[in-house]
Amino acid sequence: MAMELHKTIEGFRKALENERGADRAVGFVPTMGALHDGHISLVTRALDQCDLVAMSIFVNRLQFGPTEDLSSYPRPFEEDTQRAEAAGVVHLFAPSVEEMHPTGDIQTIVRVSGTTEMLEGVWRPGHFDGVTTMVAKLFAIVGPSHAYFGEKDWQQLESIRQMVTDLSMPVDVVGCPIVREPDGLAMSSRNIYLNEADRDSALKLHQALQRGLEVFAAGERSTRVVCDAMLDVLRNVDVQYAGHVGPGMSIKDEVEIGDRLLVAARVGPARLIDNVAVF
Ligand code: PAJ
Repeated sequence: MAMELHKTIEGFRKALENERGADRAVGFVPTMGALHDGHISLVTRALDQCDLVAMSIFVNRLQFGPTEDLSSYPRPFEEDTQRAEAAGVVHLFAPSVEEMHPTGDIQTIVRVSGTTEMLEGVWRPGHFDGVTTMVAKLFAIVGPSHAYFGEKDWQQLESIRQMVTDLSMPVDVVGCPIVREPDGLAMSSRNIYLNEADRDSALKLHQALQRGLEVFAAGERSTRVVCDAMLDVLRNVDVQYAGHVGPGMSIKDEVEIGDRLLVAARVGPARLIDNVAVF
């Protein structure tokens, strides 16, 4: 089926209203574009579970801090539309800033409190307000039965789950595994900022997480010791945190199976994040 490109909220909403009818499952994959295999894996998962898949591409200014990379964020729109269509997206929503924010600002904020204050929240104040506000807006436009998010942004995924629960949104939030390069680097639209030397440093994030898992596998259970082991791998990198959370972003002194280890660092011009499940 040829993909339809929608630039207006009204057009996109109408197209989906027509599709929905007869209990069809509508899968939604929100993105900021610069699509890579991580994004495509969300579409593939959505196709498995839903009758049709809609995607949005919108670089959401609400979630960028004043010194962050909003203006330089990659926007390879032609390639993105081709990749989305090849992956099986039927409706692609790619609005302008004016379409999404006609009055130039936004006065309504959807804020998830607890899950957003630690880790990323410390380094990117206001970031998650921007994410949850935009995701709530997109859900209101699309009305999806299912929405797909990567575990790559673990804290984002947990915050969206919390928002959906708190506001009784009728959306099934599906978390999908992190897609990595062959060397272990988590795929990210921001990896294009990395030169070869940066790439070596970037790999340290993955290595740190593996070290954390090794220390746990060797019998260590103390959060502090496991996090210190990760920090040790990151000692020559501009690390921002090496952390650990339990279910629902809970803070715990002891690491258990099913918890999550998370790291963030600045590498060259990029800020990178990664995480793994403890097993
Ligand atoms: P963006 O960074 O474009 O990511 C879109 C989706 O792709 C997110 O759910 C993200 O977790 C997922 N993703 C990114 N890299 C991945 C990887 N290596 N493996 C698996 N999934 C991956 O996240 C956002 O956009 C925005 O915050 C958004 C939700 C669109 C709201 O503006």
